[in-house]
Amino acid sequence: MTRVITVLNFKGGTGKTTTVVNLAAGLALRNARVLCIDMDAQGNLGTWLGVKHPYSTSDLLLGHVEPERCITPARKHLDVIIGDRHLMRAEGKLWRMGDDRVARRVLHYTMKEVNGYDYIIMDCAPSYSLVTENALLYARELIVPVSMDYLAMVGSRQVIDTLKTVGYLPDHELELTLVVPTLYYHRLRKDREVMAMLQRYFRGRISNPIRSNVRLAEAASHQQTIYEYAPHSHGAEDYARLVERVVKVAEDNQ
Ligand SMILES: Nc1ncnc2c1ncn2[C@@H]1O[C@H](COP(=O)(O)OP(=O)(O)OP(=O)(O)O)[C@@H](O)[C@H]1O
Ligand SMILES: [Mg+2]
Repeated sequence: MTRVITVLNFKGGTGKTTTVVNLAAGLALRNARVLCIDMDAQGNLGTWLGVKHPYSTSDLLLGHVEPERCITPARKHLDVIIGDRHLMRAEGKLWRMGDDRVARRVLHYTMKEVNGYDYIIMDCAPSYSLVTENALLYARELIVPVSMDYLAMVGSRQVIDTLKTVGYLPDHELELTLVVPTLYYHRLRKDREVMAMLQRYFRGRISNPIRSNVRLAEAASHQQTIYEYAPHSHGAEDYARLVERVVKVAEDNQ
């Protein structure tokens, strides 16, 4: 069965895109078949992976072409649907559909035609929008990256509150799979304190922390995943551990 995961925090810059790229690439390296969908008009996913394509998530949502034609290969076992600025126009058009029960579920219905993936992972913008809502109403699992600051924690609480509303819709199950502490620097007391707070609040749902590692930022500018750019870095080590954990969550639930 396909695991459909959305990666979200309403605070910007918490490591969502970094997590999507390196989680997806790590899963693909384990021979899982992975599709990433960029639900953010910034289009960072395609830029990071060095992928261009004539059709993007906005074409997918607006039904301009069949879903399969929006998909482009990025690496072995790793495909992507890129995001671009047209997503903002798509948002407007979705609003004008009139019936928001339909507008919120366009992705859910459209993606029924796409088969053959073990994981579909969505990267979201740091805001609540109809596009984000489409991701939440398609996904079954939520991963929330939290950088080590108070506002990111607030952003993660807002996501959990949203999850309570979305997760309780009668015909949709959405569960918090993991909270991922990011940009962690153990020598900073603030980071240790935020980490302890997260552990108290989310308990077993906390993953290993992703340490602050400049190689992760550099990898993006080289259009490489962390495993390609710096396979022996802390970034590669931490994301590989996260990959193991994500795989294990499903095994534990069986
Ligand atoms: N563990 C890390 N160590 C060092 N730098 C990191 C780490 N994680 C992310 N970064 C850097 O922090 C910045 C924000 O990361 P990223 O783009 O992944 O966040 P985001 O949540 O997707 O942002 P946005 O909300 O704008 O979409 C980027 O410059 C990225 O390279
Ligand atoms: Mg991002």
